[in-house]
Amino acid sequence: MTTQTPARPQLIDLHPPSADMRRLVQDGLKREPRQLPAWFLYDNEGSQLFDQICQQPEYSLTRTEIALLESSAADIVNAIGSGVIVEFGAGSARKVGPLLEAMHPHAYVALDISAEHLRRSTATLQAQHPRVPMLGICCDHSQLEALPDHPLIQGERKVGFFPGSSLGNFTRDEAVALLHRFRVLLSGGPLLLGLDQPKASSRLEAAYDDAAGISAAFARNLLRRLNKDLDADFNPDKFLYEAVWQEAESRVRMALISEVHQTVSVAGEPWTFSAGQPLVTEYSVKYSAEMARELAKDAGWRWCGRWHDPADDLSLHWLEAAD
Ligand SMILES: C[S@@+](CC[C@H](N)C(=O)[O-])C[C@H]1O[C@@H](n2cnc3c(N)ncnc32)[C@H](O)[C@@H]1O
Repeated sequence: MTTQTPARPQLIDLHPPSADMRRLVQDGLKREPRQLPAWFLYDNEGSQLFDQICQQPEYSLTRTEIALLESSAADIVNAIGSGVIVEFGAGSARKVGPLLEAMHPHAYVALDISAEHLRRSTATLQAQHPRVPMLGICCDHSQLEALPDHPLIQGERKVGFFPGSSLGNFTRDEAVALLHRFRVLLSGGPLLLGLDQPKASSRLEAAYDDAAGISAAFARNLLRRLNKDLDADFNPDKFLYEAVWQEAESRVRMALISEVHQTVSVAGEPWTFSAGQPLVTEYSVKYSAEMARELAKDAGWRWCGRWHDPADDLSLHWLEAAD
């Protein structure tokens, strides 16, 4: 008997061109406080460092969400129905397995900004699920106007999946805009949205500043990425990393703090950092069940229910497009 290796999934590359990246960095460095879009953290090295963060003892989110998906997949699929799974910010695509097994979808489409990582993740997943046709789309999903014309997507009911609490990287207004956009991209299909919830600040700060220093390395890699891709000359050793819970905003703020007064060149332009000045690398907003319901409503979604882990640390929210 011969066994056939499944074909590698196709990858459609819609990564923003470097001129757009330059403009985004210039805009971000003009903000107060300075802040770049969180997707800049995810070049190939950044994606691999994020996978290491997921294995740290302090970062329980990934383990908890996978366990919840494993225990609830049949129930979830019974509720949200079938179609083509469209996963936003799929990363290593390690969470969708239980849904693929319970749903047997027509296809699986993974969107992510990190092209090489996406290529690897979809190839690994394809080998594990040879019967499910798969497609990768490298893009910034916060700017995507429409899913590409592709036979795996066209005319099919779409089921959105956005785990990992990635929505927490966006401010509330940006999160509303993103959920609006997903409603359009899913053309009437439901969305399964994974959101982490507020908890003790000591737990949250440790989760984003692990003892092994992987979160700090992940943040500093942003500077290396700017050096490589935008001809910058940051010295990552001259920035301290910190993760601070900001109660009023229900978020953890991750930032690199300039240790000294220094001037850095980015794409030929000088930028001065005073000692102690932060560069925000990302936020992680934590949504209580009530906050998530309000957010969904403001973004044109009907909140239909949630599944949560036994400790009620995080939730998978079921949203349907409001009429
Ligand atoms: C917090 S990680 C979560 C990964 C995975 N979904 C999980 O739950 O473990 C965020 C993922 O979204 C991707 N990402 C971040 N911003 C994005 C954007 N604007 N458009 C597309 N992908 C993005 C990153 O490359 C990364 O893989």
